Order: sequence, then C-alpha cells, then structure tokens
Amino acid sequence: MSSSWTPPNDYESRPVAILGAGVLGRRIGCIWASAGFDVHLRDPSPQQREDGIAYIQENAVLYAQKTGKKVGVVHAFESLEDAIANSWLVIEAVPEKIQLKIDTFGELDTLAPADCILASNSSSYKSSEMLEKVSEAGKSRILNMHYYMPPQCMVVELMTNGHTEEGIFPFMIDRCKKGATLPYVARKQSTGFIFNRLWAAVKRETLTILAEGVSVPEEIDSLWTEMFVKGGATPCKTMDNVGLDTVAFIESHYVEERGLSSENTVDYLQACYINHGRLGTKSSQGGLYPPQAVENKCASKDYRLVVLDIGLSSATPSMTSGSILEISANGQVQKSLVENQCLPDGLVVDPQTGRLFWTNMGIPGKEDGSVLCYNPETKAVDTIIPTGKINTPKQLALDSTSNKLYFSDREGLCVYRCNFDGTELEKIVQAGNPQKLEDAEDTRKWCVGIAVAPRLGKFYWTQKGPSKGGQGRIFCANISTPVGELPCSRSDIDCIRSGLPEPIDLEVDESNCWLYWTDRGEIPFGNSLNRVHLNEFGQCSAAQKSELLARNFNETIGLKLDVENDAVYVTDLGGSIYRCGLTGEPKSLLYADSTRAFTGIAIL
Ligand SMILES: *[C@@H]1O[C@H](CO)[C@@H](O)[C@H](O)[C@H]1NC(C)=O
Ligand SMILES: *[C@@H]1O[C@H](CO)[C@@H](O)[C@H](O)[C@H]1NC(C)=O
Ligand SMILES: *[C@@H]1O[C@H](CO)[C@@H](O)[C@H](O)[C@H]1NC(C)=O
Repeated sequence: MSSSWTPPNDYESRPVAILGAGVLGRRIGCIWASAGFDVHLRDPSPQQREDGIAYIQENAVLYAQKTGKKVGVVHAFESLEDAIANSWLVIEAVPEKIQLKIDTFGELDTLAPADCILASNSSSYKSSEMLEKVSEAGKSRILNMHYYMPPQCMVVELMTNGHTEEGIFPFMIDRCKKGATLPYVARKQSTGFIFNRLWAAVKRETLTILAEGVSVPEEIDSLWTEMFVKGGATPCKTMDNVGLDTVAFIESHYVEERGLSSENTVDYLQACYINHGRLGTKSSQGGLYPPQAVENKCASKDYRLVVLDIGLSSATPSMTSGSILEISANGQVQKSLVENQCLPDGLVVDPQTGRLFWTNMGIPGKEDGSVLCYNPETKAVDTIIPTGKINTPKQLALDSTSNKLYFSDREGLCVYRCNFDGTELEKIVQAGNPQKLEDAEDTRKWCVGIAVAPRLGKFYWTQKGPSKGGQGRIFCANISTPVGELPCSRSDIDCIRSGLPEPIDLEVDESNCWLYWTDRGEIPFGNSLNRVHLNEFGQCSAAQKSELLARNFNETIGLKLDVENDAVYVTDLGGSIYRCGLTGEPKSLLYADSTRAFTGIAIL
C-alpha cells in the first residue's frame, strides 16, 4: 500500500454510480444526490430504473435538508459502461449472490476510470471474496461500504478488503459526513462489520435464553428498555464503570461453565488492561477508555458548567423564576436550558447519559418539593419525584455504580435515596420527626448537603444548624443500612465535624480521600470553602484538622469538583461563580451577575 494515494481528480464535478436501483440502491443514490453529486443509477430492469428515479426525485430534497447542498441530477442507465463512465465512485448494491458480485467487480476493474473508488454494499461477503477477477492494482481501490436503511438509519460502515489504500478511508469519511451519514470504519476485515457482530451476540444470547425457557420475549424487551434505552448505557463505558477486573471475573464463570475459550475475553483483559493497572473509571490509568478523557473534554470548547439560578434575585422575583443556565468555561452565559422552576437547589449530571437531575425545594415546610430530569438531547423535562411526597429537597448526589440518586430533605429532616426514575424512594436517615414542632424548628436537624462515595462504602451529609450559628455538623454512614435498623436509629452514623459556622453542600474526592464543603456561616471562617482528609474507610477523627481553601464568598452554596483539572467551582447567592485550585491556588471570579442567585452547579 503506497502512501501516495490521491483523491480522484475533480471528483466534485463527477458523478457517483450506483449499481442496483432496488430498495437500498435508490436510497444510497438519494444520499449522494443530496450531497450535491450527480447520480447515475444502473439497473437492467426498466421498472426498477423508473421507480428508482422517482424515489430520488421525490425524496432527495428531504435528505438535502440535512446536507444544505443543492441536489444533484439523477440519470438512469441500462448499460453498466455508460453508467460508470467518468464516475469517481461506484457503489454496487446488486443482489447478494457471490458469483454476481465477482463478475461485477471484474467488469468494474476494467471499465471504471482508473482513479475511481469501488465499493460493495455486501455484508455477508467480505470484499476479499469478490476479488477473483480483479487485477492486483485494482484491489487497492475497492472497499466495503454497508448502509442500513436510510433515511431512518444514516449509519454507514466502511471496511478494508485487506488491500484497500489507507488514504481512501479519511477521504470517504469526509464525503460520507458531507452527505449527512454517520460513517464508522472497521479497522480490519470482519464478517459482519462492527454493528452486525454486536447484534449477532445479542441475538445469540436472547435466543438461548428463550430456548432454555428462562424468560419470554415481552420481558426480555422490557428489561432491555429499562437497562439500555432508558438508562442510556453503552457497552464499553459500562464495562469501565463496572471495573475490568470484575468484568473478567464474571466472564471467567461463563468460560468455565460453557467450556469457552478465554482468549478474547478474560486473557485479553488480563494482558492488555488488568496487568497494567487499567481497571476502568476507578483507576488513574483508565480502562478501555484512556484516563485523559476528562482532560480532553476540558480542553475542548464543549466544556460547560451548568448552574441553578434560584430566581430570588431576578427583576421580578417569584416562586417560579428559577432556571438552569449553561455557562461556557470562559464564563459567558450560553443559554437558559430550563425555566420557571420553583426554588431549584441541587444539580447533578449523569456522566453516562448527560442527563441533568435537580431538586426544586418548593415552599419550605410544605410537602411540595420535587426532583426533575432534563435530557439535553431531546430537551424533555421529566418529573422523577412529583410534589406531594417530599418536603424541601436540597443537594443531590449521584452514584453511577448503583444508579442511585441521593438527596437531603431540609424541613423533612432526612436523607433519601432513589433510582434514576424515582422508583424505590427510601429514607436512609431520619434526623428528627418533622411532625413534632420542636424537632421541625431545630435547625440542627436540618439536612442540607449530600455526597456519596461508593468505593468507600459511605455517604455524607450536613446538618447546618442555625443561620451563622456555629452549630453545623457533617455526618457519615454506610451505604448499606445495617440489617434491621431504622433510618431514625441507625447505629453506623458518625459525626465527623461539629461546631462549624453553617456547612451547606458537600463533594467527595474518592481517589484522594478528601471531603470538601461550602460554609455560608459568619466571616472570617464562614462563607468559605473547606476540606478535610478521610482515612481509607472514609472516616475522619475529630483530631483531623480541616483546611480552609478560600474565603469571602457572598452566601456560598454549591460546589463541584474537577479533580483532573485541579479545580473546584463554587457558587454563591450573590450571583457569582468562582474557580478555586484544590491545593491553594486562590479563587478567581468566573462569572458574576447580581440579578442572579446561584445554588447547585455541575459540569456538562
Ligand atoms: C445490497 O443491495 C441489494 C440490492 O438493493 C440488496 O438486495 C442487498 O440486501 C444489499 N445488501 C446488504 C448487505 O444490504
Ligand atoms: C459499616 O461498614 C463497614 C465496612 O465498610 C463495616 O465494617 C461496619 O461493620 C459497618 N457498620 C455497620 C454498623 O454495619
Ligand atoms: C452580596 O450579593 C448581594 C446580591 O447580589 C449584593 O447586593 C451585595 O452587595 C453582595 N455583598 C458583598 C459583600 O459582595
């Protein structure tokens, strides 16, 4: 393979030829016409030619809405030679019969222009099996190009035949993207490309589950929807989150029970990942994904903060003027994502799906708090926990190892946990009885901040005490409630800080064992950002000294750690967002607007 491959001469003004005007051929034709190329449709059947032309003329404008290009002209041909004359690309979509494919490529090799790229839509044959009649030189310009069913599915997979010029791939990826298709490249020859192999595994195991009578179609489909469609889970990220050591351990059971080869599963994980300390999200070496994924995200212009404006500093403050803002890394407001919220307070982003979860406090003291969810892709807002169940939900935390949301309920005097869809709502701490007036008014029982550390097996919460009162505390307890114990009388609760000015929100850095919190109490020690070191069990003794990282905020509330970039973002009700270093770099103002009052903050 020479590295001197150059794109076909003047390809922009030359046609794309499609062999086969059937269901798929005419759709492929439509894609290339909508990308601005003239299209030559070749089919021996006059009826297919007529129908193919009609389809393209009817639909190309629709396809072109995505490309923004002027639609090319379409001609139909009976003769192969005429159809491919002067074309820069020929895509064969002739019926899936191997002899027909072999003959077609033999003809194309001699008849097509010398610089023309030749593609096969076949998925059941590798193009290497169709090269019998192709010259050695001809093989390097042939590749597989497999479309699904456009326009419903615009994915196209490209694959080498083992001889294909490498330079063809970046060039074709660009051309495909300009035609509003989504190209993926199989880096080697592979029966079934990439997607069909994924699908093959799913089909095989589904059929086996059915054959063994373990489940029924309705329940398999419903389970799939819950786990993958709603949860938005993807295979490689999920394995990194689960941990590759755990994945290998589980896989070794199947290997043993079914007498499978361990070569491409357990052994592969062991040799390429586990032995190098690459266990997934939990290890600094990364896993299937490299560890610098976060840094890359940061460097790119996609890096965004999302922040809640409680709405009480707006020109016309009301109980429904809260909103979610997206703010670029340089501090400029980008846009308002959601409006008309009732005192929003806590915000998290699900790292797996990009969905935002937040709490609306509602009217403090009334059972009208709620938890909501926003999907940036669909822009849909869903209610996770409707009003009528919880009182004044505050900070939210997300545990992506168990797919749970945690939140404190201030006037509810408790801490809750639930699934991402709000189901299995359970109280895990009850600091007092909200029905009893003396408890309800005792702000030392008001739960506000929350953080969860799945690796340490702990969660943490604040009980803020009276405003600027110096009676604030931070507690921790086990993620698994001790068997048989009630949230009001758990034996595993530790008070790890007490006598604080007025602690509010929490964040935990599990990798380095630090607990961070904001405090909106009296200056000089209140209105500050603080941290304390935790031991390997996630605990800390009274003797462990806290560190004061930054001071002089204006009623500080929210914080969000960005450990990889040595930063923590802090909000205050004065309408400011600050960035502070984790190890002493002073705070710098990122954004300020006195008509806003910020609470929760997260990174998109
Ligand atoms: C290729 O195109 C032909 C003609 O439309 C079709 O019959 C065949 O199923 C296609 N092959 C694949 C793998 O999509
Ligand atoms: C809390 O968890 C730790 C381990 O993380 C365990 O040793 C301890 O017994 C648990 N406490 C209770 C009361 O269950
Ligand atoms: C705090 O924020 C409020 C509201 O924006 C503002 O009026 C006040 O001047 C700020 N105070 C300080 C000390 O910055």
